[in-house]
Amino acid sequence: MRLAQAFSGVVVAAAVAQAQSSDAKLAYSPPKYPSPWADGSGNWEAAYAKAQAFVKQLTLLEKVNITTGVGWEGEQCVGNTGSVPRLGFPGFCNQDSPLGVRDTDYNSAFPAGGTVAASWDRSLWRQRGADMGAEHRDKGVDTQLGPVVGPLGRSPEGGRGWEGFSPDPVLSGIAVGETVQGIQSSGVIACTKHFILNEQEHFRQVGEANGYGFPITEALSSNIDDVTLHELYLWPFADAVRAGTGAIMCSYNQVNNSYACANSYTLNYLLKGELGFQGFVMSDWQAQHSGVASAYAGLDMTMPGDTLFDTNRTYWGTNLTIAVVNGTVPEWRIDDMVTRIMSAYYYVGRDKHTKPVNFDSWTLDTFGPKHFIANEEFTVINEHVDVRAEHAKNIRDAASKSIVLLKNKGGLPLTGKEKYTGVFGQGAVTNLWGPNGCGDRQCDNGTLAMGWGSGTANFPYLVDPLTAIQNTVLETSGGVIQSVADNWAYAQIAQVASQASVSVVFVSADSGEGYLDIDGNEGDRNNLTLWHDADALIQNVTAVCNNTIVVMSTVGAVLVNSFYQNPNVTAILWAGLPGEQAGNSIADVLYGRVNPGGKLPFSIAKSRSDYGTDVMYEPNNGHGAPQDDFTEGIFIDYRAIDKKGVDPVYEFGYGISYTTFSYSNLQIKSHPVKPYTPTSGHTKPAPSFGKVSKDYSDYVFPASFHQVPYYIYPWLNSSDPKVASEDPDYDSGHKWPAHAADGSAQPKNPAGGAPGGNPQLYDVLFTVSATITNTGKITGDEVVELYISLGGPNDPKVVLRNFDKITLAPNEKKTVSLDVTRRDLSNWDTKTQNWVISKYQKTVYVGASSRKLHLKGALHVSSGSGYGQ
Ligand code: NOJ
Repeated sequence: MRLAQAFSGVVVAAAVAQAQSSDAKLAYSPPKYPSPWADGSGNWEAAYAKAQAFVKQLTLLEKVNITTGVGWEGEQCVGNTGSVPRLGFPGFCNQDSPLGVRDTDYNSAFPAGGTVAASWDRSLWRQRGADMGAEHRDKGVDTQLGPVVGPLGRSPEGGRGWEGFSPDPVLSGIAVGETVQGIQSSGVIACTKHFILNEQEHFRQVGEANGYGFPITEALSSNIDDVTLHELYLWPFADAVRAGTGAIMCSYNQVNNSYACANSYTLNYLLKGELGFQGFVMSDWQAQHSGVASAYAGLDMTMPGDTLFDTNRTYWGTNLTIAVVNGTVPEWRIDDMVTRIMSAYYYVGRDKHTKPVNFDSWTLDTFGPKHFIANEEFTVINEHVDVRAEHAKNIRDAASKSIVLLKNKGGLPLTGKEKYTGVFGQGAVTNLWGPNGCGDRQCDNGTLAMGWGSGTANFPYLVDPLTAIQNTVLETSGGVIQSVADNWAYAQIAQVASQASVSVVFVSADSGEGYLDIDGNEGDRNNLTLWHDADALIQNVTAVCNNTIVVMSTVGAVLVNSFYQNPNVTAILWAGLPGEQAGNSIADVLYGRVNPGGKLPFSIAKSRSDYGTDVMYEPNNGHGAPQDDFTEGIFIDYRAIDKKGVDPVYEFGYGISYTTFSYSNLQIKSHPVKPYTPTSGHTKPAPSFGKVSKDYSDYVFPASFHQVPYYIYPWLNSSDPKVASEDPDYDSGHKWPAHAADGSAQPKNPAGGAPGGNPQLYDVLFTVSATITNTGKITGDEVVELYISLGGPNDPKVVLRNFDKITLAPNEKKTVSLDVTRRDLSNWDTKTQNWVISKYQKTVYVGASSRKLHLKGALHVSSGSGYGQ
């Protein structure tokens, strides 16, 4: 069976690589083999030892079963691996999403990653991770498919930016590290995704693109240089690995014309070599395009297991069994795959949290088929377990702390005693079809509290803004409330707004994952304007009401030019995608129960072109892979705007409060550290366990075994591998990349040495402190931001490197201390393949945003004192 596909996939990939290497015009990804084996480094030693002990007990078929999904809709989770019944091991349940348990009920809907990024609050990120992890755990999930730092957010139009945190790698890196640790503290594996350069939805998958009328035959290639890859896109993945992420999902796109799930450079060299990743690489769903080649290139688990959904064909399963028996894939490589998978399992303590899956991704019916696509084994598949605990409180708290106050000309806070409150816009109410009325949230009707696609969860309820405002006004014995939720009801809008003492206008902009579109936005947004004619809505309200507050529930940056300077707009809030408590969290800020302390995790520019990058909307390589050249390098978001020398409307890191703060007294303390030593030496040879029988009849399906239709198995249906593989070219001989099967000791990566990279990168070279004073009349939160100028001709004006969030009572002062590490001061050096501190003057700034750099000091980094090279 199926080896035809496995090998042909490899041959095609090899042919493409050859063609491209000889074609100077196309970017090329160099081969890097063998795939590094886990070694238990960092704090993985105990988990690694337990994993090895487990793997030693397994037969080859059992090992293959753990690496291969059972096929799309084969079991109850969005992805399940096979099991090891002999040892009572049920296999893995991998479940979306980065903001809650997807496709079930009695779960919470948390604020999105790109929203909580605006809180700049480490403990909030940790708590949100722990709460999401607990909900996955209690539903019986092993791996939560999140958090997201790819896309990073190269272009604001990119459809899935809101699932991740921020286009700034440091903000994203700190947020992902906390989220990973939070999720895993609840006993669930975090799967950080999508590795790497999955920066847009258009052309990420061939079938999807074909469906939209683009006849391409290969997925988009994100073409990138070594410096940009390291200084921008790989950076937060290093933090995720350092935080111990158990899994990493490789992405749909190609990187320099090699598929991300079979890219030996990104998986073997960068992720497992340089970053010292000890967990396992899982493919995105249908992102595997080859069998043996992807095994050599570092893939450890294929999801959902079939080549394309419900084809009953697989690159692994049977074919991986054959490839190990015939010696193509060495035993150490499959042992390493399973050791990595089981290391993650033990690392987060899954063995202490075993709970059978109690929900079903394909239906909410209580009774139904355990194998949905096969329509077999009817039983109770949804136990409707309520896993929400007390999370609603944290969700409301997180969402309100993530709201950014962009403008306040006395409009806020409200008291609740306003004589006449007018509420406008469809964003003020719940979708008329109900909060879950659009599958995977494929609509922007009613208040927008998450984007669309797989990064969603069902709402248990959705508190809309009108309800929350009304509750507040009634509780405060305030005045009249009138609302118009139809953005096009111009006459009614004018009538109400002209009477209102305050008008609150709710506007939105949505985006999502590429398999669904809304109004021709194929995942990525087509533009940066507000949806549903919202500019006209604001115009209509402000035309007759001089106290208008605009609340923006958007996936990211939008153009605000038409209204932000309007004097009748007395306040603007960015609320992001707040999750189930949307209305309450917004009302908390509107009525001053929470003093806003969020800061923008992206820039709001004056024009789309100021971002310097954009989504590629039309293929540019005939039917071949669209070639998306990341020519802007590290200059995205504020780095691009600063470079262009233009002013944004609201800069990265900006946000005001109902109080004010002053900054003073910058102090810089340097710390003696040892000179940076590139990691050297060799690994141990690859460990390998167990004996593999070379007799194919040992792997044939057991007699009278019932094969569930569509289910992917590790067994063979014939003792003749050619027959079992269904590969007409089975014996024709294939050329594999040099060293791919080499299990001998390998040189270590100089920038590697531990999870997250060379441990000395995290040495603290300076501690910078500043005193912040609350100069206003109420208690408030301030995010204190540290930026660095690396000083070189190719460096951005400033880059964020650290921050802290503090709470200050009126007149209270606090001194904030922020560490600066060696990594923070380094550039990637392509020659030595390592980080170096350049000779250019380093300057540190501490301030309230990327443009409000109140304090400044020089960092004296001298090579003589052991800091740099
Ligand atoms: C594809 C998405 O890209 C990924 O993020 C998700 O986890 C899988 N589908 C499973 O739903």
